[in-house]
Amino acid sequence: MSDTTINTEIYDANGYNCWLGYHLLENSPLKEEYSKWASNIVASQEDIGTALSELKRGFKEILGVNASVSSRGAEQSSYIALGVLGRGKEIDSYVKYDEVVKIGSEGYIIKSTKTNNGEEIVVAGTTIKGLLYGVFGLLRLLQTETVIEGILKIENPVNMLRIINHWDNIDGSIERGYAGKSIFFENNKITQDLGRIRDYARLLCSVGINSIVINNVNVHKYESMLITDRYLKDVAKLALIFGEYGIKLYLSVNFASTIEIGGLTTADPLDAEVSKWWEEKAEEIYSVIPDFGGFLIKADSEFRPGPFTYGRTHADGANMLAEALEPYGGLVIWRCFVYNCMQDWRDLTTDRARAAYDNFMPLDGLFKDNVLLQIKNGPMDFQVREPVSPLFGGLQKTNQLLELQVTQEYTGQQKHLCYLVPMWKEILDFDTMAQGKDTSVKKIITGSVFNNKLGGMAAVTNIGSDLNWTGHQMAQSNTYGYARLCWNPDLSAEQITDEWVRMTYSNNEKVVSTVKEMLMGSWRTYENYTSPLGIGWMVNPNHHYGPNVDGYEYDKWGTYHRADHKGIGVDRTVRNGTGYAGQYHKDVAEIYENLEKCPEELLLFFHHVPYDYRLKSGETLLQYIYNTHFKGAVEVEELISKWKSLKGLVGEEIFRHVLERLEGQLEHSKEWRDVINTYFYRKTGIPDEAGRKIY
Ligand code: GCU
Repeated sequence: MSDTTINTEIYDANGYNCWLGYHLLENSPLKEEYSKWASNIVASQEDIGTALSELKRGFKEILGVNASVSSRGAEQSSYIALGVLGRGKEIDSYVKYDEVVKIGSEGYIIKSTKTNNGEEIVVAGTTIKGLLYGVFGLLRLLQTETVIEGILKIENPVNMLRIINHWDNIDGSIERGYAGKSIFFENNKITQDLGRIRDYARLLCSVGINSIVINNVNVHKYESMLITDRYLKDVAKLALIFGEYGIKLYLSVNFASTIEIGGLTTADPLDAEVSKWWEEKAEEIYSVIPDFGGFLIKADSEFRPGPFTYGRTHADGANMLAEALEPYGGLVIWRCFVYNCMQDWRDLTTDRARAAYDNFMPLDGLFKDNVLLQIKNGPMDFQVREPVSPLFGGLQKTNQLLELQVTQEYTGQQKHLCYLVPMWKEILDFDTMAQGKDTSVKKIITGSVFNNKLGGMAAVTNIGSDLNWTGHQMAQSNTYGYARLCWNPDLSAEQITDEWVRMTYSNNEKVVSTVKEMLMGSWRTYENYTSPLGIGWMVNPNHHYGPNVDGYEYDKWGTYHRADHKGIGVDRTVRNGTGYAGQYHKDVAEIYENLEKCPEELLLFFHHVPYDYRLKSGETLLQYIYNTHFKGAVEVEELISKWKSLKGLVGEEIFRHVLERLEGQLEHSKEWRDVINTYFYRKTGIPDEAGRKIY
């Protein structure tokens, strides 16, 4: 914490420490076992200070142990040794050759060996970063009260790039931010509260995040200046702190920077002056921030400039920047969120869902090696339910990143509880069938399926300056879950949730099972009272909060859902519709194309369906909409009673705060229920079969 005058109890009580708010193990039978070896740390390498101090802090707060540090352990009966492998016998002697070869550059080993008169634990990586992950990995085991005796755990992150995207503006506001102001920027300056940045860096490092983009993808004039000497030195201070925790800093840049800040009249990527300007800019940036990560770019989308202005392709644009960054090992992350937001939705021959694929598939194989395409999980825009983007499995010769949205723009804006890990699991597990069965998204983004050099995941974060970072304290679970899935997408939602609850609240079984239940069902609950069966949107214009069936701002005709008195949904089949279904591999396309085979949760995304169509449950489509909307609101009532049953078992302040949010959610879920049900009742004139009142 930055300011020593701040009352740390207030911070703890409000959830500031998130999953690192270590709780003293009091009644655990494991405490004694841990404490034996935790009291003696053997560490002699000089540059592992951060790992060492994190370990000591953890031991102090979890076990109440003030560990002593020495350079040799032989005299102690039980101890823990810490270090980077490959630097001499001292640490290497603990690890066997066949173990070392399994530890990658970001991986770690935790190993416990019984000795004649005690227990010896080793935590080691092949790099300082790996060691740090190992320390946090060990602390996680302690926090979740896991038996360490006899353990041999070798972990490597599955995804190369594990990225957090901030949509923070330099004036301190955050686009789609629901947890206060930016922690990086204030009144067009970079924050001086570096203590908070450090706290943030350690939180991210503890869950394996290795890259961060600190500013909004919508880069306006002021933000363009982040890459000028006016800001670079201050950006470098942030980069240094993140670097200490193994995190590389990136910046979003404006494609037309040459015009905005460079004094040129063009941003044409094939213009020699333009590429020269970027080369010099890269040199300048790296002279101030030697381990700078690279650029993130949103081009030709929602009024942002891009190569289309000059009749160039996105490959031309990305490659020009990539060349400038190449000498320094920098990366260009280029977003595929490119569509015409001015499209006329009444025109049935255009379909926004097709845009990313139509724009980028023809460019497959044309990007340089240090370019990655960042692809939103679905073809639209982070709706509560969307199919997976067909670019996954489509693109084969291009480095790819999956982009998720942790900030809850369309999923309740951190006023509603909506735990997104189950949704992300479905996305990661989705089988594109690109190379027959088992060509899942999670495999593709590692680069292993198509031999891509780079890959990974990125997500728009939900972090802001609120004391609890995420507005709704429970929304911290989404931050945590996202990062854990980046590290290992095979972790089950249950396991991630279990960890988060234990680390954040307590190991009390009632707390664990109740909160898990609340989290695991909350996405479905949110979907129940909002937008049904993949149709999407139905939100108020611009801020996207609250129900408004015809409200989406880019569709002023209110026709995106194609609802009339007979039916609703968009025909995206190849046979009769927009042809979007045909962008998938044929085995998948065939399923979406066919009304009977199409997964029901996506029915209205792919098909226009009459209200009297019978779903598998036997309900008509209309009755399903009514039923789920009533059910959703009832489920929120249940969330409240579950939470109330934990009174006295979680911190008072957090208990009160979450209860207040849930009560707000209940009111709002009823509003959603009533607005949506009334809309369909008025359209169809058909009442609810169960005779419930529709307002
Ligand atoms: C959505 C969101 C915008 C954001 C955009 C993006 O459209 O509403 O605020 O800029 O996504 O991903 O670039």
